[in-house]
Amino acid sequence: MATHKLLLLPGDGIGPEIMTEVKKVIGWIEKRGVAAFTIEEDLVGGCAYDAHGRAISEGAMKKALAADAVIFGAVGGPKWDGVPYDVRPEAGLLRLRKDLGLFANLRPAICYPALADSSSLKREVVEGLDILIVRELTGGVYFGEPKEIVTLENGEKRAVDTQLYTTSEIERIARVAFDLARTRGNKVASAEKRNVMKSGVLWNQVVTRIGREDYPDVALEHVLADNCAMQLVRWPKQFDVVVCDNLFGDILSDVAAMLTGSLGMLPSASLGAPDPATGQRRALYEPVHGTAPDIAGKGVANPIAMIASFGMALRYSFGLGGEADLLDRAIAAVLDEGLRTPDIYTEGTVKVGTVAMGDAILAALDRLAA
Ligand code: NAD
Ligand code: IPM
Ligand code: MN
Repeated sequence: MATHKLLLLPGDGIGPEIMTEVKKVIGWIEKRGVAAFTIEEDLVGGCAYDAHGRAISEGAMKKALAADAVIFGAVGGPKWDGVPYDVRPEAGLLRLRKDLGLFANLRPAICYPALADSSSLKREVVEGLDILIVRELTGGVYFGEPKEIVTLENGEKRAVDTQLYTTSEIERIARVAFDLARTRGNKVASAEKRNVMKSGVLWNQVVTRIGREDYPDVALEHVLADNCAMQLVRWPKQFDVVVCDNLFGDILSDVAAMLTGSLGMLPSASLGAPDPATGQRRALYEPVHGTAPDIAGKGVANPIAMIASFGMALRYSFGLGGEADLLDRAIAAVLDEGLRTPDIYTEGTVKVGTVAMGDAILAALDRLAA
């Protein structure tokens, strides 16, 4: 039986609350006897800043580089609004993404049948929804240089962020999107703003070429990113895989989250390039949502995005697709039973907290596996 090295980074706000629920699922997988895990835990984000004066320590970075998968909660919050930019909580997450080379961020948005009435959109718009946003995660305006605020001679300040992409960066994320499309609906929509941005022109050219040369069987369409945001709300089921740059992917995935009922439902996987020798890829799994400061500490956060992110780890890092499917079915079963954290509550269902939701998923796993 394989032993996998996990690094748990709960982070701030609701991060530790939802990580507690994932630990139960990790224990369940171990008990099932399909894999063993060695588990380390460390600080990231605001709590790391409080302890070490930086958003992630070198020790934690080392552990992340040595891990088979990092399971990440969320970082940030109003407490750290005033800390210097370079050591703000979010810098810990960005460093992990960059230093681990996690260029491909997979953000599936699935509307579970039982939640079709929890979305702010009409049932017929979201029912049966299953789309995948493939977000480029280590380039673009998040990391381009210069990135600075300078004071001009007249005393005014000027802020600069640089949107920057190279051919190879676009090629590799396009390939991830096309490969994944082949395992699903065989359709890719590439979202950019070629009408305004040079990086959008290059993005469009490269994705078009890769599609034509290597994936002629996959249907490719190009959509301007602003229109894509609108289309996601108008009729999201027209999409299968949406591929886009770092910033558009951040925004479009929050939009997609609401199609599923709540930001608390959306998991993600951030993957590096496969090692040529072993085929293994570095990976970090995290919910799409943040630290939810408005509900942190109240025991009401929805743990499903975090638990489903661990499900993605089972699938993409540990070759345990069967267990990942089981976990998805357990989540669906609990929702079918009518259990709801407050973010997905609708009349006639049963409101539960974070721990009760985690326990119910465990109980469903037991039932399904029996
Ligand atoms: P947020 O995602 O934390 O919260 C937005 C809204 O969604 C809030 O009303 C919150 O209560 C709700 N929500 C989010 N997750 C939920 C869950 N699991 N269950 C129930 N409700 C949930 O976004 P924000 O308020 O804009 O950001 C707060 C902090 O989190 C900021 O510091 C931001 O930088 C950080 N953030 C971190 C990550 C991350 O670590 N990956 C992602 C996004 C935001
Ligand atoms: C996300 C978050 C992060 C991002 C922040 C916290 C750096 O919003 O993962 O969606 O902007 O990528
Ligand atoms: Mn985001």
